[in-house]
Amino acid sequence: MMANSNIDSIWQTPLQLPKLKGHQVHIWRANLGLSTPEIEQLTTLLSTDEIARADKFRFAKHRRKFIAARGILRQLLGNYLEVSPRSLTFTYSDRGKPQLATDISLQFNLSHSEEYALFGFALNHLIGVDIEHQRAMPDALKIAQRFFSAREYKMLVAVPLEQQPKLFFQLWTAKEAYLKATGTGLSGSLSSVEICLDQRESLYLSTIKQDKIIDWSLYCCTPATDYAAAIAINAQISTQDVNYWHCNYVSDRAL
Ligand SMILES: CC(C)(COP(=O)(O)OP(=O)(O)OC[C@H]1O[C@@H](n2cnc3c(N)ncnc32)[C@H](O)[C@@H]1OP(=O)(O)O)[C@@H](O)C(=O)NCCC(=O)NCCS
Repeated sequence: MMANSNIDSIWQTPLQLPKLKGHQVHIWRANLGLSTPEIEQLTTLLSTDEIARADKFRFAKHRRKFIAARGILRQLLGNYLEVSPRSLTFTYSDRGKPQLATDISLQFNLSHSEEYALFGFALNHLIGVDIEHQRAMPDALKIAQRFFSAREYKMLVAVPLEQQPKLFFQLWTAKEAYLKATGTGLSGSLSSVEICLDQRESLYLSTIKQDKIIDWSLYCCTPATDYAAAIAINAQISTQDVNYWHCNYVSDRAL
């Protein structure tokens, strides 16, 4: 199932930090272009291995974005679990998917592209998110021909030329969100999942054999102009249970 949401109407700035209940899925978008004092403050939340990872980035802009995304992730997780963001410990699957070491019922995933990050949270359901900056892709059709299924490629060539980049990134993020939810990432096959269109022009997850994957939900959204994003959850989640929040980093206590 997919809902395609436009930019401004869905992203709400919470007055109070929200709690996650039942089948709710919380999606947060954050602008990673933070000030130096903000980056310094977020650095104090990171573990030694995260700081070591940050230090390995060659360019400061990449280091700052990694710190911003990890710092905000820790603040959001800390809020949900009502613990200090600093106290959180992550474990990693063999393909690198982070999980909470102590509380795997709170599932999460993050993605970043250029200026924005997207964070997804769900209770007891696998979740994967992907955000991509929608840039000019002169080779989009060639890439689609190579990595997408025949039906996905057909869907892409069927739309007017000016709509192809948007659909390309919708399909790409949807496939990647699913692969990130399962933890396979791009080492898994992009063709192991197929994105289809239903009669109401909504995208949904399927397999090449044409079966709808019924125990998964797929949502697509537009976090900002020229960004495409998708969320895949291993459960049937209705539209009203998906909340989109705008994260305003201010201090240790407020987002
Ligand atoms: C995960 C992956 C899809 C990320 O793609 P991307 O578009 O470059 O990055 P995104 O911004 O969407 O996501 C990155 C975030 O996803 C998370 N992540 C990392 N590996 C993941 C995985 N296998 N599944 C789900 N999420 C993963 C991390 O939080 C990461 O952010 P961080 O590096 O700041 O902590 C890609 O790196 C991949 O395919 N990794 C698997 C590689 C692999 O199998 N390695 C074998 C072991 S060496």
